[in-house]
Amino acid sequence: MTNNTIVPDLLIKNARQLICPAESSSDEASFKIIADGAVACVKGEIAAFGTTEEILANVNIYQQTTVIDSGDLIVSPGFVDAHTHPVFFGTREHEFEKRNQGKSYAEIAKEGGGIRHSVRQLREASEEQLIEHALPYLDQFAECGTTTIEAKSGYGLSLKDEIKSLRVIKKLNELHPLDLVPTFLGAHEIPDEYRTQREKYIQMIIEEMIPAVVEENLAEFCDIFCEEHVFNVRETEKILTAAHDAGLKLKVHADQLSSSGGAELAAQLHAVSADHVDYISDRAIELMKKNGTVPVLLPGAVFFLGLTHYAPARKMIDADLPVAIATDFNPGSCMTQSMPMMMTIASIYMKMTAQELWTATTATAAKAIDKKNLGKIEIGAKADLALWDIPNFRYLPYHFGVSHLKKLIKSGKIIWEK
Ligand code: NIG
Ligand code: FE
Repeated sequence: MTNNTIVPDLLIKNARQLICPAESSSDEASFKIIADGAVACVKGEIAAFGTTEEILANVNIYQQTTVIDSGDLIVSPGFVDAHTHPVFFGTREHEFEKRNQGKSYAEIAKEGGGIRHSVRQLREASEEQLIEHALPYLDQFAECGTTTIEAKSGYGLSLKDEIKSLRVIKKLNELHPLDLVPTFLGAHEIPDEYRTQREKYIQMIIEEMIPAVVEENLAEFCDIFCEEHVFNVRETEKILTAAHDAGLKLKVHADQLSSSGGAELAAQLHAVSADHVDYISDRAIELMKKNGTVPVLLPGAVFFLGLTHYAPARKMIDADLPVAIATDFNPGSCMTQSMPMMMTIASIYMKMTAQELWTATTATAAKAIDKKNLGKIEIGAKADLALWDIPNFRYLPYHFGVSHLKKLIKSGKIIWEK
């Protein structure tokens, strides 16, 4: 696919394989591997891609063109991590150890630990401290091959601290080459001071927080932790309806620990995604397919919490409901930014193929954050690319726990290299 007037700012040639996933599809026909591939980028976008021979015959290289002879590397779109909680202050390794000694995530939460522990920590921190804390974590996303993350607030749980968290996300977006897509998660938990008056907290989310977030244009999405012991389905519907009416797009933490009707509701409200869905019902699968709600599976959280019930990925894919895979990076239930690690876990425990995993972490992940121009190698897509020192595309999930990334390109510029 070329156009002979192309004068690229960046040209990558001689890629052993170009991995070209297509949106929302895991069938053979739409997932392309181009051998001896090349990509030409103009002004941060992909202008042409194909075999090296085809591309070299059709581009005019000029003095300013950065040429990367990929020397047999594999080139893929950068990962799109569609579910992360990167704004927190202080970590929770003490809880990790407690859990591994037998305490459950729910027990720790009941005793005031878990999310509420992180809330107490975040409220003590200034905007500047939160930015300092988050920046190295963003570098680690890049080191794992990720070029865009969805980023949630949700450890503030007061008007002031939620706005502070979202302003931090906005600032991080300006300071760091990664793109952050902001999500308001004021309904992550009921904070300590509202434990006996949850109705009041919900009212505050609807009447104060959502309007303030929208007024300052701080979020694209509104998310909620829908679970029996957190926000039930009725409360979730109330909050998300208000968010939708205020102009926010919707996401739901749904059916993570039990089947509570969260995923059905997400579909009924035309949410862009329903996330976790470890206990998704057959009816929810049908509704999500019908209404275009993308399941974002978070196998790292199941793994890290020492649980065994993974989302039924095969059932969804086989029902023609393509899935996205994300890290859920957060200090409590999944402390990693590694999408390759998610691929390995999803291969073993969710029986996904390498082809499905590449699609789930790029093109379908982009759909899960409503960004059609990301996660693909096609003309007009954003030139966010990862170069891997691996022999073929099946190798990344297989050789786990070490880094295979050689270079990372964001908007046509090299932002990381080894
Ligand atoms: O996605 N499920 C709720 N929220 C996070 C956990 C956050 C935390 O434990 O700090 C999650 O797993
Ligand atoms: Fe989460």
